[in-house]
Amino acid sequence: MTISNLSHGLSTRPPASLDTGLARRWRELVDRLSQVQRRYPDAALASSLAAEDMVLTHAIYGSGLDLEVFTLDTGRLHAETLGVLDAVDARYGRRVTVYRPDAAAVDAHVAAHGAHAFYESVELRKACCQIRKVEPLRRALAGRGAWITGQRRQQSTTRGELPLEEHDATFGLYKFNPLAEWSEEDVWAVIRTLDIPYNPLHDQGYPSIGCEPCTRAIRPGEDLRAGRWWWESSDSKECGLHAGNRVISVVARGD
Ligand code: ADX
Ligand code: SF4
Repeated sequence: MTISNLSHGLSTRPPASLDTGLARRWRELVDRLSQVQRRYPDAALASSLAAEDMVLTHAIYGSGLDLEVFTLDTGRLHAETLGVLDAVDARYGRRVTVYRPDAAAVDAHVAAHGAHAFYESVELRKACCQIRKVEPLRRALAGRGAWITGQRRQQSTTRGELPLEEHDATFGLYKFNPLAEWSEEDVWAVIRTLDIPYNPLHDQGYPSIGCEPCTRAIRPGEDLRAGRWWWESSDSKECGLHAGNRVISVVARGD
């Protein structure tokens, strides 16, 4: 079997043979997302427009699922990231919903602490993430039964025990991480084979992409998330969207 056979005709590439393991993963992914839709018809994918989320977007749009896809435009994203919105529109004919931060809250934070306060302390960095990401996410999730993320276990120490599904106590709804078991190689094999649009920054040394001032390219051999908030230690590198991750790993270890 080839994975292109599973792309519901959206791939512009001729069928390419992938190993059956990846074809099985793809089938499982589409099955999982179909089940999410059956259980929670109002579930939505939170997309950072990075590689993992593009795999999920392709699985949703390419399979004709009705799940909504939304992104949080923090106002500090790279132009390349915003360009992915147009690429998605051109490829699938569906618009990603965009949520933005409360302008007055952003203005007040910048007036009080300056435009680059995130470099000064973890507290000020988290305050910025709270205003630009967490509050808009809360609005995006309001009234929904579940949300879907592109997190993977291999991405960081805080995600090592990421479940495929969980109750999200922070935002008060169910949460699905359908790529939890996927490797980076799986993600890129699928993107290349199905010709899925992706952020060009991935080809310039950015495996993980967030806001422009808080993301840098990594050097060969560095950790995948080394370019995110690079001035902080690795155990503080979460922005509040996935606050439950750390709690899960601590509980599971019995600390
Ligand atoms: S972060 O918490 O450090 O920013 P990361 O960039 O690894 O997260 O992305 C993990 C998942 O969080 C993504 O797959 C996506 O589901 C969600 N996410 C992160 N940033 C955004 C964003 N700007 N808009 C919507 N979802 C996002
Ligand atoms: Fe602010 Fe940086 Fe967080 Fe973006 S990643 S919301 S710019 S602190």
